[in-house]
Amino acid sequence: MDGNGRWAESRGKARSEGHLAGTEAVIRTVENAFRAGIQCVTLYAFSSENWNRPAEEIQALMGLMLRFLAEQKNLFIKNKIRLRTIGDLSPFPEAIREAVEAVKAETSAFSEHTVAVALNYGARDEVLRAAQLYATDVRSGKLSGDTAPAWEQFSKYLWTDGMPDPDLIVRTSGEIRLSNFLLLQAAYAELYFTDVLWPDFDKAELDKALAFYASRERRFGKTSAQIQKDEH
Ligand code: IPE
Ligand code: MG
Repeated sequence: MDGNGRWAESRGKARSEGHLAGTEAVIRTVENAFRAGIQCVTLYAFSSENWNRPAEEIQALMGLMLRFLAEQKNLFIKNKIRLRTIGDLSPFPEAIREAVEAVKAETSAFSEHTVAVALNYGARDEVLRAAQLYATDVRSGKLSGDTAPAWEQFSKYLWTDGMPDPDLIVRTSGEIRLSNFLLLQAAYAELYFTDVLWPDFDKAELDKALAFYASRERRFGKTSAQIQKDEH
């Protein structure tokens, strides 16, 4: 979700106004995605590098997160959406951690729809933590460690354990990079980049992204002929 700041600046508004408009895009996109049959939506809300922003902007983002959790809690419950997070929550203010954990706990039994919010997330942090947890299990004898783990085994140590790999990654605002987002899980993801700024991302824009996705032939290393044979 990129471009909140530029959206605000181009209107002579404070960057925080862009983030506020961005939360509206979050709500409509999640609703539109579920309506389109998508089961899991992961939102890159706050990266491990976003702590480098001015204190005032971080403060505004924290305020918005709290407001979002309070205002949208019932939406999650009413629509049976499970809230998950990926990333290390420990540096966040207690009020945010508590609010997040409360919604997570209240929605943990839902299985049809998942919204995963990446908070203080970075793919490199994720893999380092996974390696450390894996090593702990080897040391305690839970795993032998004699051979390299299969990916299915190692990926259980990632924050995304239990979530499907992303089929489609959308980045707004014209930047063509992944910025430390789900680097390993994105191995076979289709990547969609649009110049549209995140607060302007609406149903028509989601539909364009989904049409792009539908036009891709996903081969997972196979040949086109094999895929066409499998489909028929
Ligand atoms: C993305 O918008 C939102 C967050 C990182 C929370 P930006 O704040 O990065 O917007 P630009 O890139 O400055 O336009
Ligand atoms: Mg940005």
